[in-house]
Amino acid sequence: MSIETGILVLGANGQLGMEFRDASLQHSGFDWHFHSRSTLPIEDITGISAYCRQHQISYLINCAAYTAVDKAEQEKEQAMLINAEMPGKLAGICREQGMQLVHFSTDYVFDGSAGHPYKESDPTHPINAYGESKHKGEELALNHDPKTMIIRTSWLYSRYGQNFVKTMLRLMQEKDELRIVSDQQGSPTHAADLAHAVCRIISKNMELTGGIYHFANKGITTWYHFAEAIRQEAGYACRITPIPSSDYPTPAKRPHYSVLDTQKIRDQFRLEIPYWKDSLTACIKMILKP
Ligand SMILES: NC(=O)c1ccc[n+]([C@@H]2O[C@H](COP(=O)([O-])OP(=O)(O)OC[C@H]3O[C@@H](n4cnc5c(N)ncnc54)[C@H](OP(=O)(O)O)[C@@H]3O)[C@@H](O)[C@H]2O)c1
Repeated sequence: MSIETGILVLGANGQLGMEFRDASLQHSGFDWHFHSRSTLPIEDITGISAYCRQHQISYLINCAAYTAVDKAEQEKEQAMLINAEMPGKLAGICREQGMQLVHFSTDYVFDGSAGHPYKESDPTHPINAYGESKHKGEELALNHDPKTMIIRTSWLYSRYGQNFVKTMLRLMQEKDELRIVSDQQGSPTHAADLAHAVCRIISKNMELTGGIYHFANKGITTWYHFAEAIRQEAGYACRITPIPSSDYPTPAKRPHYSVLDTQKIRDQFRLEIPYWKDSLTACIKMILKP
């Protein structure tokens, strides 16, 4: 791949965007461009289009999203604008300019009723406004450009931004006991692993087949067991008590089961995906390092 291959990352100050900034240091053969909401908002489609032409962008990686799951119940229009309408328009400019769009979606497009890890082909049925907006975004992006690569991921965390791991580490130092939901199953995913996987896929310079892919760290857990693993890794003494979701009501409903089957992306791009606990260990080391 030539040094001129331009990659534009939108939403570059979010947790996944920040991990792309880090990953770019190991993939320096590309001409990386990082923009956040303040310099290139996703609504500025004309500006993004002009920027891509001017800088000869080949890959547009969209990490910008409306990710406030509970707030989305009150701000459905805003969530739809950022998570659905704009990704559709981004796909439109990618098609016009022959760029490859890489866009991210969520396990929350599923309702949790499957008894097996969800495959890309399994029927979707979002049960909250965030999931609905992300689902619509998948549909619009693929309608505008069938070459779009959509990667659904789950329970994302990183040393950057706001996420479950960082919240738990803070609360465990402040409180003697935490009550954590134990009846939702999923796969925590280190955003660094996802960013590196995308970089490796792009580096392979393969003709990307558009469509939906699932990426999550290997293994299945619950929020309660995830919290326990964080506590053990950090060596904190806080007591963690399992509770049912019914004891922790939230404005947005969450699926009780949202494990993603990652075989397609692993097979197609010959990727090894780390076990969730190993990635958690690596992330916590980075967060707690002096
Ligand atoms: N977090 C999870 O657990 C999870 C799970 C499954 C899938 N995903 C998906 O993974 C992707 C990355 O999520 P993430 O966890 O990295 O989210 P994040 O940390 O919330 O980052 C999203 C970024 O998008 C930016 N943004 C919001 N509105 C924008 C706009 N109008 N123009 C430009 N940028 C805008 C935000 O900027 P500000 O900081 O200025 O608000 C933020 O930096 C998203 O597609 C998300 O839906 C996330």
